[in-house]
Amino acid sequence: TDTSTRELLLSRIRDVADYPKPGVVFKDITPLLADPKAFTALTDALAELCAKHGATKIVGLEARGFILAAPVAVRAGVGFIPVRKAGKLPGATLSQAYELEYGSAEIEVHAEDLDQDDRVLVIDDVLATGGTAEASLELVRRAGAEVVGVAVLMELGFLGGRARLEPALRGAPLEAL
Ligand code: PRP
Repeated sequence: TDTSTRELLLSRIRDVADYPKPGVVFKDITPLLADPKAFTALTDALAELCAKHGATKIVGLEARGFILAAPVAVRAGVGFIPVRKAGKLPGATLSQAYELEYGSAEIEVHAEDLDQDDRVLVIDDVLATGGTAEASLELVRRAGAEVVGVAVLMELGFLGGRARLEPALRGAPLEAL
């Protein structure tokens, strides 16, 4: 992304202090979504990454990842595959549990949505600790598909997500706009 696009995107991300709990600064993307110029610029930038890495499918991570990934899939002309929190997908699923700061979580994908012919770009809004993205790469590979990259709007560098994700990337790029 060029500097002016980056500045536009940054200017539409709102810092919310002490949300969802004291001491946490929440990155709110709703101003970006409400601005068609910014949302379009983001969609275009992500669609470019999709083309650059030759992705044939986009995997979006619930819930904010869905909002960003779906228009990219349409723009790029590739399928959109949702990775959902456990218990939400009706068909046969693959599940992946992962550790959170306190406790654990589980995400799922429909097993039939991906196969060995697919080249997948995973899209989410934020890379924080990297746990969600790491688990999503496990799911994509267990479904038999190839990971061509992970793309996020924001990377919270101080949480070390890139380092945690590194082994799971197996050389695929992590692109943070
Ligand atoms: C947030 C964010 C990422 C994830 C990043 O999702 O949208 O998916 O956390 O955190 P991590 O790198 O530490 O795993 P959240 O679980 O808040 O879900 P939501 O999008 O449904 O609000």
